[in-house]
Amino acid sequence: MNLLGISGSLRAESFNTSLLGAATRCAADAGATVNHFDIGTLPLYNQDLDGDDKPGPVAALKDAIDKADGLVLVSPEYNYGIPGVLKNAIDWASRPGYKSVLVGKPTVILSASMSVTGGVRMQAHLKNVLAATLTPVYCAPEFALGTAHKAFDDAGELADEDTRKRLDRLINGYIEWAAG
Ligand code: FNR
Repeated sequence: MNLLGISGSLRAESFNTSLLGAATRCAADAGATVNHFDIGTLPLYNQDLDGDDKPGPVAALKDAIDKADGLVLVSPEYNYGIPGVLKNAIDWASRPGYKSVLVGKPTVILSASMSVTGGVRMQAHLKNVLAATLTPVYCAPEFALGTAHKAFDDAGELADEDTRKRLDRLINGYIEWAAG
């Protein structure tokens, strides 16, 4: 199975990108590959640019989603919602409405935040946005990594074994569901 991973943070030392890395390793153990797409390359959405001759990064994003068996979305919460860069990527990928590459694409959502709430409000917001794009989201208790600045060891791995097991369960359950 080939999955596409997207981090909603462009920050070089992003905890969400680290969490995407941890999820990628779990997926590899389950026999699935997660390729990462950098949404920082996308221009701001402009319907005037959304014709037949799309900007290169937009065409690359749509092609990557189209070819993937599913999406792994890992994002921080900004002001109780989705970061603008992630919403921008979804808006580009979402056209043409109800017929886009996002329709029917099995998706799992994770979040990491420095607060104890772990970005869980972003997850609710993101599910609502994905409902508009007809993107099915894996139904499971939210994996929301709180106090993320203390969660990773020097090697960039999740320090807590229970958290690693919980991530493993989520990713394995998601892969089974996405495989149909
Ligand atoms: C935040 N942060 C944050 N955290 C949270 O739990 N709820 C929130 O609403 C917000 N809002 C917010 C807005 C903006 C503009 C920034 C920059 C940050 C803090 C956030 O959890 C923290 O910066 C994370 O480290 C961001 O994730 P990455 O970049 O480490 O992946």
